[in-house]
Amino acid sequence: MEKQARFGLIGCGRISPNHLDGIAHAPHAVLAAVCDLDAKKAEEAAHVGGLDKYYTDIDEMLESEDLDVVCILTPSGMHSEHAIRVANHKINVLCEKPLCTTREKMEAMIEACHKNGVKLGAIFQRRTFSAAISAREAVATGRLGKVTIAGAELKYYRDQAYYDSGDWRGTWEWDGGGALMNQGIHGVDMLNFMMGGIDTVYARCDRLVWDTEVEDTAVALLGFKNGAMGTLQGATTVWPGLDTVFSIDGSKGTLCFGDKGFYRWQMEDPTFKQPEVVGSLGGLNCGYQTTNMGHTIQIEDMACAVLENRDPMIVGEDAMHSVNIVLAIYESSRTGKLVHVK
Ligand SMILES: NC(=O)c1ccc[n+]([C@@H]2O[C@H](COP(=O)([O-])OP(=O)(O)OC[C@H]3O[C@@H](n4cnc5c(N)ncnc54)[C@H](O)[C@@H]3O)[C@@H](O)[C@H]2O)c1
Repeated sequence: MEKQARFGLIGCGRISPNHLDGIAHAPHAVLAAVCDLDAKKAEEAAHVGGLDKYYTDIDEMLESEDLDVVCILTPSGMHSEHAIRVANHKINVLCEKPLCTTREKMEAMIEACHKNGVKLGAIFQRRTFSAAISAREAVATGRLGKVTIAGAELKYYRDQAYYDSGDWRGTWEWDGGGALMNQGIHGVDMLNFMMGGIDTVYARCDRLVWDTEVEDTAVALLGFKNGAMGTLQGATTVWPGLDTVFSIDGSKGTLCFGDKGFYRWQMEDPTFKQPEVVGSLGGLNCGYQTTNMGHTIQIEDMACAVLENRDPMIVGEDAMHSVNIVLAIYESSRTGKLVHVK
């Protein structure tokens, strides 16, 4: 039997089935322990994961179990505190998106992992989608010519019951933001990843429908490091919730793709053929079967990173940059000024 990294979970809420399934399907990962403040949720996760015990206290789990990686699946604003506790036990961390909700908290967790000599990996499972990888390659290799415009449509739907379903949802302190910090951050991260960096933002964010503290609708004008311009629209107010759509246009070609694959692939060079798309993505209300491929790939990558002593696919600093873009969008909306992403 090849060596496997032993995984623990902190937080057994909505996203935990993706981690339980990902660990079950990742050849180099094995589930060893689960923890949630809510004993019923912890017990259910233990049952699904084939464990005969569960924890309701993080430190008890960290002290009792021999773990290689702990997945942080708690409300976003708690990620830093929980990651630091794990790192202080000399255990590697795999943290759900967003890395955390403020620059100070993110820097503290990155520093704690460095100081303790453990790895900090971050989940952005949509980056593993083959259409996004092909689009990134098309930009990086110059096949689109000079890239001039890029756009992301992140138009989702969450109702009031969703915002009322947890004390932390829709709060600045624990959710860190709304349509962009929670749902749209995947798209912000993908656009940044494909285009090679978002440099400036000029934005407007507002609450137009839902009774929450945070924005439910946002638009931003983007400036990319490669000189291109872009737009981003993010919302949880668009019924019934639409496909995530990205478009990238340049002087020698144009492409557009959604959660199931390419809608447009037109290239001046006819030999640059539309790549085959592997897998599909989708969120709530997408109306078709989606896969857990992204989480499985990232969990397997984290397990191998630990076993091979290398960096995981997405390190803390990289994931922090995407949160910094969202924070810059909020700052621009508050001040009415163009903001440079730090
Ligand atoms: N990658 C994705 O597509 C994706 C999708 C959904 C959620 N998420 C992220 O996952 C995180 C959790 O979201 P969720 O929807 O699963 O939330 P949730 O509210 O359903 O679950 C959070 C769980 O954490 C537990 N918890 C809180 N404090 C704890 C503590 N001190 N010790 C142990 N357990 C504790 C709660 O009891 C709860 O069960 C968020 O950061 C969210 O952004 C990512």
